Amino acid sequence: MTWLLVALVLVVAAAGLLRWRRPAWYWLTFGVALAALRVLVRYGSVMDACGLTVPAPRWRLALARMADRPVPRPRAPRILRVRPTRTGLVLRLKLRPGQDAFDVSASADRLRHSFGMYGVTSRELRSGVVELRMTGYDVLRRVQMPSLAADTGHMRVPVALREDGSVHYRDYRTVPHALTLGATESGKSVYQRNLVAGLAPLNVALVGIDCKQGVELFPLARRFSALADNPDTAADILDALVAHMEDVYRLIRSHQSISVSVPDAEIAADIWDLPEDIRPVPVVVLVDEVAELALFANKEQEKRRDRIITALVRLAQLGRAAGIYLEICGQRFGSELGKGITMLRAQLTGRTAHRVNDETSANMAFGDISPDAVLAAITIPAEARGVAIAGDSTGGWHRIRAPPHHAAAGREPLQQARRPHPAPARLGRLSSCTRHPHTRSGPSSRVGPDRRLNDPA
Ligand SMILES: Nc1ncnc2c1ncn2[C@@H]1O[C@H](COP(=O)(O)OP(=O)(O)OP(=O)(O)O)[C@@H](O)[C@H]1O
Ligand SMILES: [Mg+2]
Repeated sequence: MTWLLVALVLVVAAAGLLRWRRPAWYWLTFGVALAALRVLVRYGSVMDACGLTVPAPRWRLALARMADRPVPRPRAPRILRVRPTRTGLVLRLKLRPGQDAFDVSASADRLRHSFGMYGVTSRELRSGVVELRMTGYDVLRRVQMPSLAADTGHMRVPVALREDGSVHYRDYRTVPHALTLGATESGKSVYQRNLVAGLAPLNVALVGIDCKQGVELFPLARRFSALADNPDTAADILDALVAHMEDVYRLIRSHQSISVSVPDAEIAADIWDLPEDIRPVPVVVLVDEVAELALFANKEQEKRRDRIITALVRLAQLGRAAGIYLEICGQRFGSELGKGITMLRAQLTGRTAHRVNDETSANMAFGDISPDAVLAAITIPAEARGVAIAGDSTGGWHRIRAPPHHAAAGREPLQQARRPHPAPARLGRLSSCTRHPHTRSGPSSRVGPDRRLNDPA
């Protein structure tokens, strides 16, 4: 008996310790079973207390009256499925007549503490069927991504974890261009490095512009086809990309060979409609600290600025079908940066905001999309670095956090991607500049007037 008591105390102490130090392990060992039991046992009374029940149908009430039996109890949504996951539980519910998905999402917070879970979110799967995603612990405190393979054929990379425990993907085919905002030290560059690590194994050319003298992207330079660390090189690279885009459109035109017998759906309209053997490699252009490209101190710099912004606007407007995708990061990105900026911003469909210091900055990301997301972005605490609000293509938003890849850790997945780095012909010459980032002659010094980007490689 004493041994049993000692064993019980040890198990409870181990569970307590795990819950405190390693919530993810606690969840997998003890938490999931306890939570499933708690939810199933309390389900009826919690739904009743949260106002998520409907009275029994009239025929049952009449039958009970006639048979002199107790009045049937109000009915909660029927549980279709309970699925334990790595981070929580997923409940699929069939709503009763008269209920709607909004009732459930409005009660999410009440359900959260009634079931003793860390977070509850709901979404409607189809008419009358709602999915409740519950998390057992704060999954964003210590982000652990499940091991997932990037979706090689579809330009879709896992980049962060959402607060409901699901994976947040950056899908370039659905959302070609994106803007990431955040105050200094809020986690923008870490997010961008995660993107690079995710894109590394794909057949895609990466082009980087990092006007912080390259400190953020240069540790990952091995994987870049071209990398600029100052506005002059950036302007050359962007011009080369615009020329590359025009080449790709010429290629698509030449391949279209439209005749009356070709159905509309088969006419090539972007690079993904071309046969694989002639399809140009897609290009992802990563720009860190974009404001640096838009600032100027004299006439000459103003001309360079206009050249850069015009090229970016052209790439944002026309680049998608040519397989050119923009990923722009900055602290603010508003009209105070001069002409062309709001036009460029309007083309950046994907929005992510890390912690911002004022509402205006949050409005630059979400003002025209969702006021709730603006509020969520300004309430991210300063110590929660890397936490961000990400808009999705449906107009909704999620709280996300990327895993804290440090520059050194980020190199490992990049080194594993041993395939040759694809580079569009016009960027081919630049690619050699980035192979040895730590040599004395950095990329910017290797791209001189004698190495004109617009020359075919
Ligand atoms: N997802 C994350 N998880 C944990 N820590 C993070 C995360 N993202 C960032 N950090 C921490 O915050 C620090 C600053 O991050 P980062 O360099 O990405 O900020 P930034 O927004 O790019 O800042 P700046 O505008 O000054 O370049 C990192 O060194 C890291 O310690
Ligand atoms: Mg940064």
